Amino acid sequence: MSLIDEIKARVDIVEVIGESVKLRRSGKNYIGFCPFHHNVHTPAFVVFPDTQTWRCFGACNTGGDVFHFVMKREGVTFAEALRRLAQRAGIPLTATPEAEAQEQERARLREALAAAALFYQGLLRRAGEAEPARAYLAARGLTPETVERFGLGYSPPAWHALLDHLRRQGFTLEELQAAGLVVVREDGTAFDRFRGRLMIPIRDPQGHVIGFGARALGNEEPKYLNSPQTALFDKSAVLFALDLARPEIRRTGVAVIVEGYFDAIMAHQAGFANVVAAMGTSLSEAQLRLLGRMLLGLSGRPGGPSVPRLILAMDADPAGMHAVLRGLAAARAAFPETTLELGPQGLIRLSGQLGVDLRVLTLPAGVDPDEWIRRDPEAWARALAAARPVIAFLLDYLAAQHPLEDPKGKSAFVREVVPILAAIPDPVERDVYIQQAARMARLNERVLLELVASQRYAPRGTKGDRRAGPPQGLRADPSRPGVPLLDSGREAEALLLAILGMAPDLLPYLNVRFAELGLEPLSEDDFGDTAHRALFRNLSAFGPVEEWPETEATVLQAAWAGLMEGRAAALRGFDPEDERWAEEALRIALWLREQRLRNILEELQGLADAMPDWPPGEFMAKWQALAEELKRVQRFRYRRIEREPRTLRAEEEA
Ligand code: UTP
Ligand code: MN
Repeated sequence: MSLIDEIKARVDIVEVIGESVKLRRSGKNYIGFCPFHHNVHTPAFVVFPDTQTWRCFGACNTGGDVFHFVMKREGVTFAEALRRLAQRAGIPLTATPEAEAQEQERARLREALAAAALFYQGLLRRAGEAEPARAYLAARGLTPETVERFGLGYSPPAWHALLDHLRRQGFTLEELQAAGLVVVREDGTAFDRFRGRLMIPIRDPQGHVIGFGARALGNEEPKYLNSPQTALFDKSAVLFALDLARPEIRRTGVAVIVEGYFDAIMAHQAGFANVVAAMGTSLSEAQLRLLGRMLLGLSGRPGGPSVPRLILAMDADPAGMHAVLRGLAAARAAFPETTLELGPQGLIRLSGQLGVDLRVLTLPAGVDPDEWIRRDPEAWARALAAARPVIAFLLDYLAAQHPLEDPKGKSAFVREVVPILAAIPDPVERDVYIQQAARMARLNERVLLELVASQRYAPRGTKGDRRAGPPQGLRADPSRPGVPLLDSGREAEALLLAILGMAPDLLPYLNVRFAELGLEPLSEDDFGDTAHRALFRNLSAFGPVEEWPETEATVLQAAWAGLMEGRAAALRGFDPEDERWAEEALRIALWLREQRLRNILEELQGLADAMPDWPPGEFMAKWQALAEELKRVQRFRYRRIEREPRTLRAEEEA
C-alpha cells in the first residue's frame, strides 16, 4: 500500500472535515455549508464516507479526498498536507528528526568532498610537486581544458596532507572517514586514502562530487583506487560523467556507455559529449534506469534516432560483451560487492520497458575506446552509427559459439536463445528475431515459436519479470497502431500526466481546445488519484519537474518516476511536435472530463434519490448545466476523435 493509501485508510474523512465544518448526517452521507465559498442559505457541501470523498455542489464545483480538503482548507502544499495527515494517522514520515539529521550529515559529506576536490585540483596546478601527474596527463593527450572541465587533481604522496588540510577547515575525523577520504586504523590513528595518484572526481547528475577514482601514475596496484561505498557513493548506481553528458544526451536522444574513466574523458575531449562510464562494472539496473529516465520522451529529435538509443561500448570482444551482458565479466570478480546483475534477459526486458533501443558497439579486439578515439575519432563515429541491436548481436554471437550443423549444437543454441527471445517485450520485434534465429539454426520456425511462447507464459520467479508487457489498462487499438485505448481511469490519468511531463506546452493547447468547446480549463479535479492530482497541480503551476520547489519534488519524486517508467512503452515514439500526440492528449483529457462530469451527476442523482428535499431548487440549473457540458464533451469526443461508427450512427438516428 502506498503511503497515501495507508493514510487514507487510517484517517476518517468525516472526522477531519467535521473539525472545521459543521456536518449533519443525512442517510449515508453528511451535509454542511461549504467552507470554501460564502453561502449561508444552502448546504451544498457533501461528504461521502463510502468513497472517503467530499464535494461542493454549489459555487465551488470542486471536491476531492481528505488530502485536497486539507490543502484547500489550510492553504498548504501537497507535501505539507501529507506531513500533517501522516502525523494524524500516526505514520512516521521519512522526514523524521533522524532523517533530517541524516540529510545534514550527507550535506556535510558533500562539503568535505567538494573541499577535497578543490585541494587536489589546486595541487595539480602547482608545478614541481605535481610534476609526475602533469606529465602523465600530457602523455595521455589530455588538454588543459579537459583537465579543468573534469576537475582532475593530484593527491600528494603523503600520509596526512588532505587530513590536515580538511581538519584545519573544521571537518572531523568521523566526517572524513564517512566521506571515504580517510582511513582510520584500529588503534584510532588515521591516514589519507588517496596518496600520490591522479584524482578523478565522480559527480552525481546534479554535479556534486560524491567520490573519487584515483589512478596510479605508474604500475602500482591497484590501477584505480576508488572511494568506498558511503552514504553518498554507490559505484554500481552512478555513472561517471553523467553530469557533463546530460545536455548532449537530451539533445541527441542517444547515450553511450563505456567502461573506463579515461574512455569517457577522451570521448568528451573529442566532442562526443554524450558518453558516460560504468566504471568497470557491468551495467546495473539502477544505472540503466537512470539513463532510461534521462532518455524518456526524446524520440524524433532532428537528426536523431526515432527511438532513444543506448549504446554499450563496453568490452573488446563479443565473448567479453556476452560476459558483460551475462554479468560474468572478469572485472567484476575484483569488485564482487558492486552490482545488481541484470543478465541479457533482464537487460532486454528492462530496455523494452524503458522504451530504449539498446545497441552494442563491438570494439576491435584489444582496443580501448580511449586510444581509439584519440587516434581516429571518425572511425569511432562510424562505429557508433553502426552499433547493432543487442539481440542481433547476441544471436550472431551465440550462433558462432555452437556448431549449428550438429543437432546437439543446434539444441544448445536454442537453449540459450529462447530465454533471450522470450524477453523481448514488443511482439513484432520478437517475431522478427524468432524468424531470424530459426533461419540461422535452420530450424522450423514453429518449434522455436512454441518454445518461446512456453517460456513467456511460464510462471516466473523474479519480480522484475512481472513488469514486462504493456502497461495495465491499456490495450492497443488495432485500427490505429501505437495508440492505446483507455480502460482504466487511473491509467488514463497517468498517461496524460506522462505526456504533459514530457511536453508541458501541451497544457495551454488543451485548455484552448477546451475553451472552444465551452469547457472549463483542465484542472486537478479532473484527476481522481491523490498523487495524480498533486502531480497535475505542480505541472500546471511550475512547469517541468526540474522546476518544482524542492519539498514538492522530494515528496512526489517516487510517484513521478514510477509513473514515467510505467508509461515508457506506451509513449514509445512520443514526439511533442507531432499533432497526433496532441490529439491523443486531447482525447484522454476529454475522457477524463467526461468521467468527472459523470461522477458528479451520479452523486447528485444518488443524493436526490436518498433525500427528497435535496438538492434544493437553485441547484437544478447547475445540474442541467453539468448535463449539458457532459453532452458537449461526449459529442465532440465521439464525432471528432473516436470516430466510432456505431456511436455516430446512433447520433444520426437520434
Ligand atoms: P580498465 O582496466 O579497462 O582500465 O578498467 P582503463 O579504464 O582502460 O584505464 P586506463 O586507460 O589504463 O587508465 C576499466 C574501468 O574499471 C574500473 C575503472 O573505472 C576503470 O576505468 N577499474 C579498473 C577500477 O575501478 N579499479 C581497477 O583497479 C581497475
Ligand atoms: Mn584505457
